[in-house]
Amino acid sequence: MKVSLIAVMTLCGRITPGIMGSREDRRFLEETRMNHDASLLGAGTLRGGDAEMRGPDGALPKERIRSLISASGKLPLDERKIFQIGPRPLIFTAASRADDLARQAGKRAEVIALPEQDGALSLPVACEKLAERGVENLLLEGGAHLYYVALQQGVVDELLVTVAPKVSGDRHALSLLEGDQPLGDPFLDLQLLSCRPSINGELFCRYKVKKKLTQSVDDQV
Ligand SMILES: NC(=O)c1ccc[n+]([C@@H]2O[C@H](COP(=O)([O-])OP(=O)(O)OC[C@H]3O[C@@H](n4cnc5c(N)ncnc54)[C@H](OP(=O)(O)O)[C@@H]3O)[C@@H](O)[C@H]2O)c1
Repeated sequence: MKVSLIAVMTLCGRITPGIMGSREDRRFLEETRMNHDASLLGAGTLRGGDAEMRGPDGALPKERIRSLISASGKLPLDERKIFQIGPRPLIFTAASRADDLARQAGKRAEVIALPEQDGALSLPVACEKLAERGVENLLLEGGAHLYYVALQQGVVDELLVTVAPKVSGDRHALSLLEGDQPLGDPFLDLQLLSCRPSINGELFCRYKVKKKLTQSVDDQV
């Protein structure tokens, strides 16, 4: 399976607060969704907003999988549109939370238990579960914690990053990746595949992860 992450950030690498991309960037996100069989979103992003992961013109194709990940299982099931409108999302959670969450969610979502890996849920196993449902391309839609763990666990192939012509400097704002230690030694190397400037000053960049921090799924199941 090919896994890409998509984000828009300031020149200083912040992905919060709020919506920082242009309408063109929003369109790019919506179109990119349509080129991917599934999306995966971190619980933090859902709790902070009302993401529905729609395509262009509000499209919610039946066959496209929308998935969420939450170790705690604390999700605003009653308050978010993703649980009320469109195809039923998948929720990946810890084995210890799965039964409770499935009861709470009822018909609003399907719950799938994941094993743990280094204090986080295993994303290689999540990818396996999605592949069993025919997913060949997965889009990671944030946020910073999910992006970090995904790179740490070696599942990310490409990064689709829009650099907005903005700076913040707020050390309290989240950066593209938030984790406890460097991913590489001290950096994880990327290869720039393409970079397109837009008329409004955004840069649409595509990077490949040169050498993934691999973790075999067989080691975890
Ligand atoms: N600029 C952009 O492109 C962009 C894109 C997306 C999001 N954002 C912003 O990013 C912010 C949210 O980022 P965030 O880092 O706080 O949250 P996040 O990455 O969206 O979610 C983190 C939470 O997701 C769950 N999670 C993710 N991966 C997991 C794993 N492998 N194992 C276990 N649990 C996992 C955990 O949920 P539990 O706590 O429930 O256990 C964790 O606390 C929001 O402000 C949002 O607007 C910006």
